[in-house]
Amino acid sequence: MPQFRLVVLISGRGSNLQAILDVCQTGCLNAEVVAVISNRPDASGLQYAAAAGIPYQVIDHTGFADRVTFDQALAQCIGRYMPDLVLLAGFMRVLTPGFVAQFTGRLLNIHPSLLPAFPGLHTHQRALDAGVTQHGVSVHFVTPELDGGPVIAQSIVPVLPEDDEAQLAARVLVAEHQLYPVVVQWLVAGRLSLNAQQQPVLDGATLDEPVCFQQ
Ligand code: GRF
Repeated sequence: MPQFRLVVLISGRGSNLQAILDVCQTGCLNAEVVAVISNRPDASGLQYAAAAGIPYQVIDHTGFADRVTFDQALAQCIGRYMPDLVLLAGFMRVLTPGFVAQFTGRLLNIHPSLLPAFPGLHTHQRALDAGVTQHGVSVHFVTPELDGGPVIAQSIVPVLPEDDEAQLAARVLVAEHQLYPVVVQWLVAGRLSLNAQQQPVLDGATLDEPVCFQQ
């Protein structure tokens, strides 16, 4: 059976990309990363693609007049690899509705907070400032609303009294590396989809709440 094809979009460090590559290699994920695309030429995560012998492309957003033309070039590049699924893994660009519409149900993002809490940037510091006792990570289908798509699964990370931003971020990152492959495998196995009402469906049941894991 042909492998499930993944394209991963990154902008920086690429540790989630590496986590996906690791599980593909061990055979725990029946999928293959067929390309990595970065909008930044200096994204250090491109080294993981190179080391794994995976084709990678840079589409530098600064060379485009606007979001629409960048997204057109990005969609064209992705299309050449004929992916079954596109993963945003630290991809720091807001995507246009036209782009998102081309990948409905086939575009996932990982976000370092328990959405809908703390969309956007600096989630760990904002969680500390807000005094929450539980923080974590969410994986969601992407819609045009930034970090606003239907959440599929979350992993809860307790906030410890002594936590600073770096300590909390490090523990959330461990949870990220575990959660993303789990959700991707649900899609690969045909267990997860997005219905016409934009709700995730897992094993035939509509998810009214995200599936929750505890660190
Ligand atoms: C992760 O925290 C991810 O949740 C967020 O951006 C960060 C990317 O980290 N969207 P990395 O590039 O995967 O190491």
